[in-house]
Amino acid sequence: MSTGHDIGVGLISVGWMGKLHTRAYQALPSVYPDLRLRPRLVHAADTAADRAAYARDVLGYTKASGDYHAVLADPDVDVVSICAPTGLHREIGMATAEAGKPFWIEKPVGRDASETAQVAKAASKAGLVTSIGYNYRHAPAVERVRDLVGGGELGRITNVRAVFFSGYASEPKGALSWRFRRDLAGTGALGDLLSHVVDLVQYVVGPIAEVSALTSTVYLQRPVLPMGSGTHFAVIEDGELGDVENDDYAATLVRFAGGSPGEGAVGTLEASRIIVGPQCGLGFEIYGTDGSAAWNFERMNELRVCVGRGGPHAGYATVLGNAHLGDYGHFQPGPGNSMGYDDLKVIEAKKFLVAVTGGERRNSTIEEAQQVAEVISSAATSASTGTWQTVPAVPGATFGHSPRS
Ligand SMILES: NC(=O)c1ccc[n+]([C@@H]2O[C@H](COP(=O)([O-])OP(=O)(O)OC[C@H]3O[C@@H](n4cnc5c(N)ncnc54)[C@H](O)[C@@H]3O)[C@@H](O)[C@H]2O)c1
Repeated sequence: MSTGHDIGVGLISVGWMGKLHTRAYQALPSVYPDLRLRPRLVHAADTAADRAAYARDVLGYTKASGDYHAVLADPDVDVVSICAPTGLHREIGMATAEAGKPFWIEKPVGRDASETAQVAKAASKAGLVTSIGYNYRHAPAVERVRDLVGGGELGRITNVRAVFFSGYASEPKGALSWRFRRDLAGTGALGDLLSHVVDLVQYVVGPIAEVSALTSTVYLQRPVLPMGSGTHFAVIEDGELGDVENDDYAATLVRFAGGSPGEGAVGTLEASRIIVGPQCGLGFEIYGTDGSAAWNFERMNELRVCVGRGGPHAGYATVLGNAHLGDYGHFQPGPGNSMGYDDLKVIEAKKFLVAVTGGERRNSTIEEAQQVAEVISSAATSASTGTWQTVPAVPGATFGHSPRS
Protein backbone atom coordinates (compact mmCIF):
# COMPACT_ATOMS: atom_id res chain seq x y z
CA MET A 1 0.00 0.00 0.00
CA SER A 2 1.29 3.48 -0.85
CA THR A 3 2.03 5.83 2.03
CA GLY A 4 -0.65 8.02 3.67
CA HIS A 5 -4.01 8.10 2.00
CA ASP A 6 -2.72 8.03 -1.56
CA ILE A 7 -4.44 4.95 -3.00
CA GLY A 8 -3.68 3.43 -6.40
CA VAL A 9 -6.90 2.27 -8.11
CA GLY A 10 -7.24 -0.57 -10.59
CA LEU A 11 -10.44 -1.03 -12.61
CA ILE A 12 -11.64 -4.22 -14.26
CA SER A 13 -14.28 -3.55 -16.95
CA VAL A 14 -15.24 -0.15 -18.25
CA GLY A 15 -19.00 -0.47 -18.78
CA TRP A 16 -21.73 1.44 -16.92
CA MET A 17 -20.45 0.45 -13.49
CA GLY A 18 -16.77 0.84 -14.36
CA LYS A 19 -17.38 4.46 -15.34
CA LEU A 20 -19.48 5.03 -12.24
CA HIS A 21 -16.88 3.60 -9.83
CA THR A 22 -14.36 5.92 -11.50
CA ARG A 23 -16.57 9.01 -11.04
CA ALA A 24 -17.04 8.01 -7.39
CA TYR A 25 -13.27 7.84 -6.79
CA GLN A 26 -12.88 11.20 -8.57
CA ALA A 27 -15.59 12.91 -6.46
CA LEU A 28 -14.54 11.45 -3.10
CA PRO A 29 -11.78 13.96 -2.12
CA SER A 30 -14.06 16.97 -2.66
CA VAL A 31 -17.14 15.44 -0.98
CA TYR A 32 -15.17 14.19 2.04
CA PRO A 33 -12.13 16.51 2.28
CA ASP A 34 -11.57 15.75 5.97
CA LEU A 35 -10.83 12.10 5.23
CA ARG A 36 -7.77 13.07 3.16
CA LEU A 37 -8.30 10.09 0.85
CA ARG A 38 -6.60 10.53 -2.51
CA PRO A 39 -7.59 7.79 -4.99
CA ARG A 40 -5.22 7.76 -7.98
CA LEU A 41 -6.48 6.17 -11.24
CA VAL A 42 -3.68 3.78 -12.18
CA HIS A 43 -4.69 0.91 -14.45
CA ALA A 44 -7.94 -0.13 -16.20
CA ALA A 45 -8.71 -3.24 -18.26
CA ASP A 46 -11.48 -4.19 -20.67
CA THR A 47 -11.55 -6.78 -23.44
CA ALA A 48 -13.22 -4.17 -25.67
CA ALA A 49 -10.26 -2.13 -26.97
CA ASP A 50 -12.28 1.08 -27.39
CA ARG A 51 -13.43 0.91 -23.75
CA ALA A 52 -9.89 0.34 -22.47
CA ALA A 53 -8.76 3.34 -24.55
CA TYR A 54 -11.65 5.42 -23.15
CA ALA A 55 -10.49 4.56 -19.62
CA ARG A 56 -7.01 5.91 -20.40
CA ASP A 57 -7.87 8.84 -22.69
CA VAL A 58 -11.09 10.12 -21.12
CA LEU A 59 -11.40 8.78 -17.58
CA GLY A 60 -7.72 9.43 -16.86
CA TYR A 61 -6.21 6.03 -15.93
CA THR A 62 -2.45 6.08 -16.48
CA LYS A 63 -2.43 2.62 -18.07
CA ALA A 64 -4.98 0.55 -20.02
CA SER A 65 -4.93 -3.17 -20.89
CA GLY A 66 -7.06 -5.78 -22.60
CA ASP A 67 -6.37 -8.40 -19.93
CA TYR A 68 -7.43 -7.88 -16.31
CA HIS A 69 -4.41 -9.88 -15.04
CA ALA A 70 -2.25 -6.86 -15.95
CA VAL A 71 -4.23 -4.77 -13.43
CA LEU A 72 -3.75 -7.36 -10.69
CA ALA A 73 0.00 -7.66 -11.42
CA ASP A 74 0.55 -3.88 -11.36
CA PRO A 75 2.49 -2.95 -8.19
CA ASP A 76 1.02 0.59 -8.30
CA VAL A 77 -2.51 -0.80 -7.88
CA ASP A 78 -3.54 -0.91 -4.19
CA VAL A 79 -7.30 -1.59 -4.55
CA VAL A 80 -9.40 -3.04 -7.36
CA SER A 81 -12.91 -2.27 -8.63
CA ILE A 82 -14.45 -5.36 -10.24
CA CYS A 83 -17.19 -4.24 -12.64
CA ALA A 84 -17.24 -7.20 -15.04
CA PRO A 85 -20.36 -9.11 -16.08
CA THR A 86 -21.62 -11.25 -13.20
CA GLY A 87 -20.49 -14.58 -14.72
CA LEU A 88 -16.84 -13.43 -14.43
CA HIS A 89 -17.02 -12.40 -10.76
CA ARG A 90 -15.94 -15.76 -9.35
CA GLU A 91 -12.80 -16.01 -11.49
CA ILE A 92 -11.82 -12.33 -11.14
CA GLY A 93 -12.79 -12.08 -7.44
CA MET A 94 -10.66 -15.10 -6.56
CA ALA A 95 -7.72 -13.86 -8.67
CA THR A 96 -7.91 -10.45 -6.96
CA ALA A 97 -7.97 -12.08 -3.52
CA GLU A 98 -4.97 -14.21 -4.49
CA ALA A 99 -3.18 -11.02 -5.59
CA GLY A 100 -3.83 -9.70 -2.05
CA LYS A 101 -5.66 -6.55 -3.17
CA PRO A 102 -8.77 -5.27 -1.35
CA PHE A 103 -11.68 -5.09 -3.78
CA TRP A 104 -14.97 -3.33 -4.44
CA ILE A 105 -17.05 -5.76 -6.48
CA GLU A 106 -20.36 -5.27 -8.21
CA LYS A 107 -23.46 -7.19 -7.25
CA PRO A 108 -24.58 -9.93 -7.36
CA VAL A 109 -21.19 -11.49 -6.56
CA GLY A 110 -21.19 -14.39 -9.01
CA ARG A 111 -24.02 -16.35 -10.57
CA ASP A 112 -25.14 -18.19 -7.43
CA ALA A 113 -24.42 -18.78 -3.74
CA SER A 114 -21.72 -21.36 -4.45
CA GLU A 115 -19.73 -18.86 -6.56
CA THR A 116 -20.16 -16.10 -3.97
CA ALA A 117 -18.96 -18.49 -1.27
CA GLN A 118 -15.78 -19.21 -3.24
CA VAL A 119 -15.00 -15.49 -3.54
CA ALA A 120 -15.84 -14.98 0.15
CA LYS A 121 -13.54 -17.82 1.18
CA ALA A 122 -10.65 -16.44 -0.88
CA ALA A 123 -11.15 -12.88 0.47
CA SER A 124 -11.40 -14.11 4.04
CA LYS A 125 -8.29 -16.32 3.68
CA ALA A 126 -6.35 -13.28 2.42
CA GLY A 127 -7.85 -11.08 5.20
CA LEU A 128 -9.05 -8.47 2.70
CA VAL A 129 -11.48 -5.59 3.09
CA THR A 130 -14.30 -5.74 0.54
CA SER A 131 -17.23 -3.61 -0.54
CA ILE A 132 -20.17 -4.77 -2.59
CA GLY A 133 -22.12 -2.70 -5.13
CA TYR A 134 -25.37 -2.69 -3.19
CA ASN A 135 -25.54 1.10 -3.51
CA TYR A 136 -29.18 1.72 -2.60
CA ARG A 137 -28.54 1.01 1.09
CA HIS A 138 -26.51 4.26 1.26
CA ALA A 139 -29.47 6.51 0.38
CA PRO A 140 -29.92 8.96 3.29
CA ALA A 141 -33.65 8.12 3.54
CA VAL A 142 -32.81 4.40 3.79
CA GLU A 143 -30.28 5.06 6.57
CA ARG A 144 -33.02 6.97 8.42
CA VAL A 145 -35.49 4.08 8.14
CA ARG A 146 -32.82 1.69 9.39
CA ASP A 147 -32.34 3.98 12.43
CA LEU A 148 -36.13 4.15 13.03
CA VAL A 149 -36.38 0.35 12.86
CA GLY A 150 -33.30 -0.28 15.01
CA GLY A 151 -34.39 2.34 17.57
CA GLY A 152 -37.80 0.70 17.94
CA GLU A 153 -39.71 3.83 16.84
CA LEU A 154 -41.93 1.81 14.50
CA GLY A 155 -42.61 -0.75 17.25
CA ARG A 156 -42.31 -4.45 16.47
CA ILE A 157 -41.84 -4.96 12.73
CA THR A 158 -44.75 -7.03 11.39
CA ASN A 159 -44.40 -7.03 7.61
CA VAL A 160 -42.33 -5.69 4.74
CA ARG A 161 -43.30 -5.12 1.10
CA ALA A 162 -40.47 -4.39 -1.30
CA VAL A 163 -40.04 -4.34 -5.08
CA PHE A 164 -37.57 -3.59 -7.82
CA PHE A 165 -39.69 -2.80 -10.86
CA SER A 166 -37.24 -1.76 -13.57
CA GLY A 167 -38.43 -1.40 -17.15
CA TYR A 168 -35.04 -1.87 -18.85
CA ALA A 169 -36.35 -4.83 -20.88
CA SER A 170 -40.01 -3.79 -21.17
CA GLU A 171 -39.61 -3.34 -24.93
CA PRO A 172 -39.92 -6.79 -26.65
CA LYS A 173 -37.08 -5.73 -28.98
CA GLY A 174 -34.93 -4.74 -26.01
CA ALA A 175 -31.39 -6.07 -26.41
CA LEU A 176 -30.37 -9.60 -25.42
CA SER A 177 -27.36 -8.43 -23.39
CA TRP A 178 -25.21 -10.73 -21.22
CA ARG A 179 -27.88 -10.31 -18.50
CA PHE A 180 -30.20 -12.76 -20.33
CA ARG A 181 -27.62 -15.60 -20.57
CA ARG A 182 -27.13 -18.18 -17.85
CA ASP A 183 -23.38 -18.59 -18.40
CA LEU A 184 -22.79 -14.84 -18.09
CA ALA A 185 -25.42 -13.84 -15.53
CA GLY A 186 -26.95 -16.88 -13.81
CA THR A 187 -30.53 -15.97 -12.93
CA GLY A 188 -32.38 -13.01 -14.49
CA ALA A 189 -34.51 -10.54 -12.51
CA LEU A 190 -33.82 -12.69 -9.44
CA GLY A 191 -30.06 -12.10 -9.32
CA ASP A 192 -29.92 -8.77 -11.15
CA LEU A 193 -32.79 -6.93 -9.42
CA LEU A 194 -34.18 -8.91 -6.49
CA SER A 195 -30.66 -9.13 -5.02
CA HIS A 196 -30.80 -5.34 -4.52
CA VAL A 197 -34.15 -5.72 -2.73
CA VAL A 198 -32.83 -8.54 -0.56
CA ASP A 199 -29.75 -6.54 0.46
CA LEU A 200 -31.88 -3.48 1.19
CA VAL A 201 -34.44 -5.18 3.44
CA GLN A 202 -31.74 -7.19 5.22
CA TYR A 203 -29.82 -3.93 5.82
CA VAL A 204 -32.92 -2.19 7.19
CA VAL A 205 -34.67 -5.03 9.03
CA GLY A 206 -32.37 -8.05 9.36
CA PRO A 207 -31.44 -11.38 7.75
CA ILE A 208 -33.99 -13.56 5.95
CA ALA A 209 -34.38 -17.13 7.20
CA GLU A 210 -36.99 -18.72 4.90
CA VAL A 211 -38.17 -18.13 1.35
CA SER A 212 -40.77 -19.32 -1.12
CA ALA A 213 -40.65 -18.09 -4.72
CA LEU A 214 -42.04 -18.23 -8.22
CA THR A 215 -40.57 -16.88 -11.45
CA SER A 216 -41.69 -16.38 -15.05
CA THR A 217 -40.18 -15.47 -18.42
CA VAL A 218 -42.43 -13.35 -20.61
CA TYR A 219 -40.29 -12.72 -23.74
CA LEU A 220 -38.54 -15.90 -24.92
CA GLN A 221 -36.33 -14.34 -27.60
CA ARG A 222 -34.63 -10.97 -28.13
CA PRO A 223 -32.19 -9.35 -30.60
CA VAL A 224 -28.57 -10.14 -29.67
CA LEU A 225 -26.28 -7.35 -28.35
CA PRO A 226 -22.52 -8.13 -28.71
CA MET A 227 -20.49 -7.98 -25.46
CA GLY A 228 -18.77 -4.66 -24.85
CA SER A 229 -21.15 -2.62 -26.99
CA GLY A 230 -24.25 -0.55 -26.22
CA THR A 231 -26.15 -0.94 -22.94
CA HIS A 232 -28.84 -3.26 -21.65
CA PHE A 233 -31.37 -0.45 -22.23
CA ALA A 234 -30.76 -0.62 -26.03
CA VAL A 235 -33.60 -1.45 -28.45
CA ILE A 236 -32.52 -3.26 -31.64
CA GLU A 237 -35.01 -3.22 -34.54
CA ASP A 238 -33.68 -5.83 -36.99
CA GLY A 239 -31.12 -7.87 -35.08
CA GLU A 240 -30.48 -11.60 -35.05
CA LEU A 241 -32.64 -13.24 -32.35
CA GLY A 242 -31.28 -15.29 -29.44
CA ASP A 243 -32.96 -17.17 -26.60
CA VAL A 244 -33.69 -15.58 -23.22
CA GLU A 245 -32.31 -18.11 -20.72
CA ASN A 246 -33.48 -16.74 -17.37
CA ASP A 247 -36.39 -15.12 -15.53
CA ASP A 248 -38.03 -11.78 -16.37
CA TYR A 249 -40.08 -11.69 -13.16
CA ALA A 250 -39.65 -13.09 -9.65
CA ALA A 251 -41.85 -12.97 -6.55
CA THR A 252 -41.03 -14.21 -3.06
CA LEU A 253 -42.59 -14.64 0.35
CA VAL A 254 -40.00 -14.39 3.12
CA ARG A 255 -39.70 -14.81 6.87
CA PHE A 256 -37.06 -12.80 8.74
CA ALA A 257 -34.64 -14.45 11.17
CA GLY A 258 -34.57 -14.05 14.93
CA GLY A 259 -31.94 -11.97 16.73
CA SER A 260 -32.47 -8.75 14.72
CA PRO A 261 -35.15 -6.03 14.44
CA GLY A 262 -36.93 -8.19 11.86
CA GLU A 263 -37.55 -11.05 14.30
CA GLY A 264 -41.10 -12.35 13.75
CA ALA A 265 -41.69 -10.29 10.60
CA VAL A 266 -42.72 -11.60 7.20
CA GLY A 267 -42.49 -10.00 3.78
CA THR A 268 -43.23 -10.02 0.06
CA LEU A 269 -40.40 -9.14 -2.32
CA GLU A 270 -40.84 -8.83 -6.10
CA ALA A 271 -38.72 -7.91 -9.11
CA SER A 272 -39.42 -7.39 -12.80
CA ARG A 273 -37.26 -6.24 -15.71
CA ILE A 274 -40.13 -6.12 -18.21
CA ILE A 275 -42.58 -3.95 -16.28
CA VAL A 276 -44.26 -1.07 -18.11
CA GLY A 277 -44.68 2.07 -16.04
CA PRO A 278 -42.11 2.00 -13.27
CA GLN A 279 -38.64 2.82 -14.63
CA CYS A 280 -36.27 2.32 -11.72
CA GLY A 281 -38.88 1.58 -9.07
CA LEU A 282 -36.89 0.13 -6.21
CA GLY A 283 -39.00 0.68 -3.13
CA PHE A 284 -40.07 -0.64 0.24
CA GLU A 285 -42.78 -0.27 2.83
CA ILE A 286 -41.88 -1.30 6.40
CA TYR A 287 -44.78 -1.81 8.78
CA GLY A 288 -44.50 -1.97 12.58
CA THR A 289 -46.94 -2.05 15.48
CA ASP A 290 -46.34 1.68 16.16
CA GLY A 291 -45.65 3.12 12.74
CA SER A 292 -44.42 2.61 9.21
CA ALA A 293 -42.10 4.05 6.58
CA ALA A 294 -42.16 3.99 2.78
CA TRP A 295 -39.51 4.92 0.20
CA ASN A 296 -38.99 4.53 -3.53
CA PHE A 297 -35.79 5.27 -5.44
CA GLU A 298 -37.74 7.09 -8.18
CA ARG A 299 -38.37 9.74 -5.49
CA MET A 300 -35.09 9.11 -3.72
CA ASN A 301 -35.09 12.34 -1.73
CA GLU A 302 -38.53 11.82 -0.20
CA LEU A 303 -39.26 9.59 2.77
CA ARG A 304 -42.82 8.91 3.94
CA VAL A 305 -43.10 8.24 7.65
CA CYS A 306 -45.99 7.63 10.02
CA VAL A 307 -45.25 7.28 13.73
CA GLY A 308 -48.28 6.74 15.97
CA ARG A 309 -51.86 5.88 15.12
CA GLY A 310 -53.92 9.06 14.98
CA GLY A 311 -54.25 12.69 16.04
CA PRO A 312 -54.82 15.68 13.76
CA HIS A 313 -51.95 14.67 11.45
CA ALA A 314 -52.84 11.00 11.13
CA GLY A 315 -51.22 9.26 8.18
CA TYR A 316 -47.94 9.79 6.37
CA ALA A 317 -45.74 12.86 6.59
CA THR A 318 -43.23 13.41 3.78
CA VAL A 319 -39.71 14.19 4.93
CA LEU A 320 -37.31 15.75 2.40
CA GLY A 321 -33.56 15.11 2.28
CA ASN A 322 -31.79 16.98 5.06
CA ALA A 323 -28.58 16.88 7.06
CA HIS A 324 -30.09 14.60 9.74
CA LEU A 325 -30.34 11.76 7.22
CA GLY A 326 -27.25 9.67 6.47
CA ASP A 327 -24.51 11.44 4.47
CA TYR A 328 -26.87 14.05 2.95
CA GLY A 329 -25.00 16.97 4.53
CA HIS A 330 -21.82 16.05 2.67
CA PHE A 331 -23.55 16.61 -0.66
CA GLN A 332 -25.99 19.50 -0.16
CA PRO A 333 -25.84 22.60 2.07
CA GLY A 334 -29.56 22.71 2.91
CA PRO A 335 -32.72 20.56 3.00
CA GLY A 336 -34.69 19.67 -0.09
CA ASN A 337 -31.80 19.84 -2.58
CA SER A 338 -31.87 16.52 -4.40
CA MET A 339 -29.09 13.97 -4.40
CA GLY A 340 -28.77 11.46 -7.24
CA TYR A 341 -27.85 7.86 -8.07
CA ASP A 342 -24.15 8.63 -8.65
CA ASP A 343 -23.88 10.12 -5.14
CA LEU A 344 -24.73 6.72 -3.64
CA LYS A 345 -21.60 5.31 -5.31
CA VAL A 346 -19.50 8.13 -3.80
CA ILE A 347 -20.73 7.07 -0.34
CA GLU A 348 -19.94 3.44 -1.22
CA ALA A 349 -16.39 4.39 -2.34
CA LYS A 350 -15.92 6.33 0.89
CA LYS A 351 -17.01 3.39 3.10
CA PHE A 352 -14.70 1.08 1.12
CA LEU A 353 -11.59 3.26 1.30
CA VAL A 354 -12.14 4.27 4.94
CA ALA A 355 -12.20 0.56 5.83
CA VAL A 356 -9.18 -0.17 3.60
CA THR A 357 -7.14 2.57 5.31
CA GLY A 358 -7.92 1.18 8.77
CA GLY A 359 -10.87 3.41 9.69
CA GLU A 360 -14.46 2.59 10.67
CA ARG A 361 -15.86 -0.58 9.08
CA ARG A 362 -19.19 0.57 7.64
CA ASN A 363 -18.52 -1.08 4.29
CA SER A 364 -20.71 -3.89 2.99
CA THR A 365 -18.92 -7.20 3.35
CA ILE A 366 -18.46 -10.29 1.23
CA GLU A 367 -20.26 -12.26 3.98
CA GLU A 368 -23.31 -10.01 3.48
CA ALA A 369 -23.07 -10.58 -0.27
CA GLN A 370 -23.07 -14.30 0.43
CA GLN A 371 -26.15 -13.98 2.66
CA VAL A 372 -27.94 -12.18 -0.19
CA ALA A 373 -26.78 -14.89 -2.62
CA GLU A 374 -28.07 -17.62 -0.27
CA VAL A 375 -31.53 -16.00 -0.32
CA ILE A 376 -31.47 -15.70 -4.12
CA SER A 377 -30.24 -19.27 -4.66
CA SER A 378 -32.82 -20.58 -2.17
CA ALA A 379 -35.50 -18.61 -4.06
CA ALA A 380 -34.34 -20.17 -7.36
CA THR A 381 -34.58 -23.64 -5.80
CA SER A 382 -38.02 -22.84 -4.41
CA ALA A 383 -39.23 -21.60 -7.80
CA SER A 384 -38.10 -24.80 -9.54
CA THR A 385 -39.34 -27.23 -6.87
CA GLY A 386 -42.42 -25.45 -5.51
CA THR A 387 -41.20 -25.81 -1.94
CA TRP A 388 -40.33 -23.48 0.95
CA GLN A 389 -36.58 -23.22 1.51
CA THR A 390 -34.59 -22.56 4.67
CA VAL A 391 -31.88 -20.01 3.91
CA PRO A 392 -28.47 -21.07 5.26
CA ALA A 393 -27.28 -18.51 7.82
CA VAL A 394 -23.89 -17.02 6.92
CA PRO A 395 -21.59 -16.44 9.92
CA GLY A 396 -20.57 -12.79 10.19
CA ALA A 397 -23.33 -11.48 7.90
CA THR A 398 -24.87 -9.17 10.51
CA PHE A 399 -25.77 -6.22 8.26
CA GLY A 400 -24.61 -4.15 11.23
CA HIS A 401 -27.52 -5.28 13.46
CA SER A 402 -26.73 -6.22 17.03
CA PRO A 403 -28.34 -9.33 18.46
CA ARG A 404 -31.67 -8.50 20.12
CA SER A 405 -31.44 -8.79 23.92
N1 LIG B 1 -25.03 -1.54 -8.38
C1 LIG B 1 -25.85 -1.30 -9.39
O1 LIG B 1 -26.82 -0.55 -9.25
C2 LIG B 1 -25.55 -1.96 -10.71
C3 LIG B 1 -26.09 -1.43 -11.90
C4 LIG B 1 -25.72 -2.04 -13.10
C5 LIG B 1 -24.88 -3.14 -13.12
N2 LIG B 1 -24.42 -3.65 -11.94
C6 LIG B 1 -23.52 -4.83 -11.94
O2 LIG B 1 -22.25 -4.41 -12.46
C7 LIG B 1 -21.66 -5.44 -13.25
C8 LIG B 1 -21.38 -4.88 -14.63
O3 LIG B 1 -22.58 -4.40 -15.20
P1 LIG B 1 -22.58 -3.20 -16.29
O4 LIG B 1 -23.99 -2.74 -16.43
O5 LIG B 1 -21.54 -2.20 -15.95
O6 LIG B 1 -22.15 -4.02 -17.57
P2 LIG B 1 -21.75 -3.45 -19.01
O7 LIG B 1 -22.27 -4.41 -19.99
O8 LIG B 1 -22.09 -2.00 -19.13
O9 LIG B 1 -20.14 -3.52 -18.98
C9 LIG B 1 -19.47 -4.74 -18.85
C10 LIG B 1 -18.05 -4.53 -19.39
O10 LIG B 1 -17.28 -5.71 -19.11
C11 LIG B 1 -16.39 -5.88 -20.20
N3 LIG B 1 -15.86 -7.25 -20.19
C12 LIG B 1 -16.42 -8.39 -20.66
N4 LIG B 1 -15.57 -9.44 -20.47
C13 LIG B 1 -14.46 -8.95 -19.86
C14 LIG B 1 -13.24 -9.54 -19.39
N5 LIG B 1 -12.98 -10.85 -19.54
N6 LIG B 1 -12.32 -8.72 -18.82
C15 LIG B 1 -12.55 -7.39 -18.66
N7 LIG B 1 -13.70 -6.79 -19.08
C16 LIG B 1 -14.63 -7.56 -19.67
C17 LIG B 1 -17.25 -5.55 -21.41
O11 LIG B 1 -16.46 -5.30 -22.57
C18 LIG B 1 -17.97 -4.31 -20.90
O12 LIG B 1 -17.27 -3.11 -21.20
C19 LIG B 1 -22.64 -6.61 -13.22
O13 LIG B 1 -22.27 -7.52 -12.22
C20 LIG B 1 -23.98 -5.95 -12.86
O14 LIG B 1 -24.88 -6.82 -12.20
C21 LIG B 1 -24.72 -3.07 -10.75
